[in-house]
Amino acid sequence: CGIVGVTGSDNAVKILLEGLQKLEYRGYDSAGIYVNDQSGQDYLVKEKGRVADLKREVGPEVHGSTGIGHTRWATHGGVSVANAHPQVSQDNRFYLVHNGVIDNFQEIRSDYLSDVSFTSQTDTEVVVQLIDKFAIEDKLNAHDAFVKALTVLKGSSYAFLLMDREDPDTLYVAKNKSPLLVGVGDGFNVVCSDASAMLRETHDFLELLDGEIVTIKPNEVKIEDKDGKPVERDTFHVDMDASETDKGTYPFYMLKEIDEQPNVMRKLAQVYLSETGEPVINEKLLNSMKQADRIYIVGAGTSYHAGLVGARLFENLTQTPTEVHISSEFAYEQPILSKKPFFIFLSQSGETADSREVLVNVNAANYESLTITNVQNSTLSREATYTLLLHAGPEIAVASTKAYTAQIALEAILAKALGESDNQIVAQRFNIRQQLGLVATGIQAIIDAKSKLEDMAKKYFLNTPNAFYIGRSLDWSVSLEAALKLKEISYVQAEGFASGELKHGTIALIEDGTPVIGIITQAKTAGLTRSNLQETMARGAKIITITTESLAKKDDDIILPDVDELLTPLLSVVPTQLLAYYTSLNKGLDVDKPRNLAKSVTVE
Ligand code: G6P
Repeated sequence: CGIVGVTGSDNAVKILLEGLQKLEYRGYDSAGIYVNDQSGQDYLVKEKGRVADLKREVGPEVHGSTGIGHTRWATHGGVSVANAHPQVSQDNRFYLVHNGVIDNFQEIRSDYLSDVSFTSQTDTEVVVQLIDKFAIEDKLNAHDAFVKALTVLKGSSYAFLLMDREDPDTLYVAKNKSPLLVGVGDGFNVVCSDASAMLRETHDFLELLDGEIVTIKPNEVKIEDKDGKPVERDTFHVDMDASETDKGTYPFYMLKEIDEQPNVMRKLAQVYLSETGEPVINEKLLNSMKQADRIYIVGAGTSYHAGLVGARLFENLTQTPTEVHISSEFAYEQPILSKKPFFIFLSQSGETADSREVLVNVNAANYESLTITNVQNSTLSREATYTLLLHAGPEIAVASTKAYTAQIALEAILAKALGESDNQIVAQRFNIRQQLGLVATGIQAIIDAKSKLEDMAKKYFLNTPNAFYIGRSLDWSVSLEAALKLKEISYVQAEGFASGELKHGTIALIEDGTPVIGIITQAKTAGLTRSNLQETMARGAKIITITTESLAKKDDDIILPDVDELLTPLLSVVPTQLLAYYTSLNKGLDVDKPRNLAKSVTVE
């Protein structure tokens, strides 16, 4: 979910609505705002659907100088106006927006609030009613009632933003595990789930730590630690331009982000390679990694898939055994670790709760870690020992594209640096600068021929209920990502499969006309994957091949320029991104905001 707040600005409504629009990638099934004009007028407006739907509901009379807003990704309670935030206490005094999950909300309800009649099914309403109860029964002010309510929440994740109608220029903030920032302005202050939502208002932000309580007025931000002691903290400056989060002339962010990939490759080379093409990586980080006897890569979704490719890079270039894990699994079913593990967290947003849970355990055990992320100052970046930034520019479309290729390219640079510092000959011979150059021009060539991919998407995917991507080794890793892209934005049920494994069961699903896309970029397994494709064709599949120039045969469909075999995922994934994009587009779907999903998932 996305949270915004502002105090001290006559433009509160506009700031909230524009901020929510920027945060829609965090959830978009319903949205709402509450504003107060300090002279007794206040407004609560909530609507199902997108922020644009909410905007239509906000009439010209709605105004104020302090307010809070929320765009929701449902966890507790279905999608409805009643369940949208802000949630309100029964006497209409307190207004609360929340991102996260309150684990013991049922118990709180029966232990403290049996006399309250609830209007929603949300865990959030339980909290706002509880604050109200403490305010009335214990005669506490908003701050103290809020603090008391927080002590009752067990094992919960939250970012809360609270307003009290009786003290209407003040915002109260608390967070645990879920992200929230305060933006500092001249005569006004804002609150947001991430900086991109408020770059039109300010570039100076205060990070907040778990357990802190923050009281915000137009000219004051007061932070207290969990014992109530005041905390002094400097702001950090976010360099990003607000326009970087605009779509420009593109119909959808996803296409813009696909198109940006050649530049992202060049940018990574510029940031992380010297003029002679040698990696420039923090020495301390390299030394920590050199001491490790095993690397553990942890990530979710697309980042997990980038980790699969990264593991091959680290093993090949550094000879260090490397494992890849899905964060939500690793957090609760940790494998037996090696003697000297080193952890790499891959996360575009740097906020994924599943990954953060693993990092908390890793820190508790005093292991060293690196976060590779696209977002400066994000939670995972702050909490890991080291951070490397992806420099991919904001990624807004829910389906990740440029972050995936950036993660792989940066893993390659890091693996090269580590292997070289350990005198590994394979690493010494791996000419990363030349390769990234080839990759950038190669991606550009694929993008330039995108109309062919649109034709293929229309021909093969528009009317099929299912599809398969198959390949071996690195091509299998890319198949998983390719299938994820197709399913998440076009709703075609797609599977990425190890091509040799197909015959052991899944081939039963192949029918007349089922599209099967073979990814063939590895010389060692090219022939085998081609045989597996033939086996599906013999059972009626329509076959599409994605291969490289040096492995191409006469009837191949998509031919990629040659690059080092370790880096072919950077090219082979691009046609699959475009196939997914054009399938979604031609089905008339909202490419950037597929149903049921959110880009940054800050609940476990
Ligand atoms: C969500 C997004 C995915 C993303 C995953 C991990 O599920 O919809 O696109 O891959 O989170 O996100 P992260 O920010 O940690 O890379």
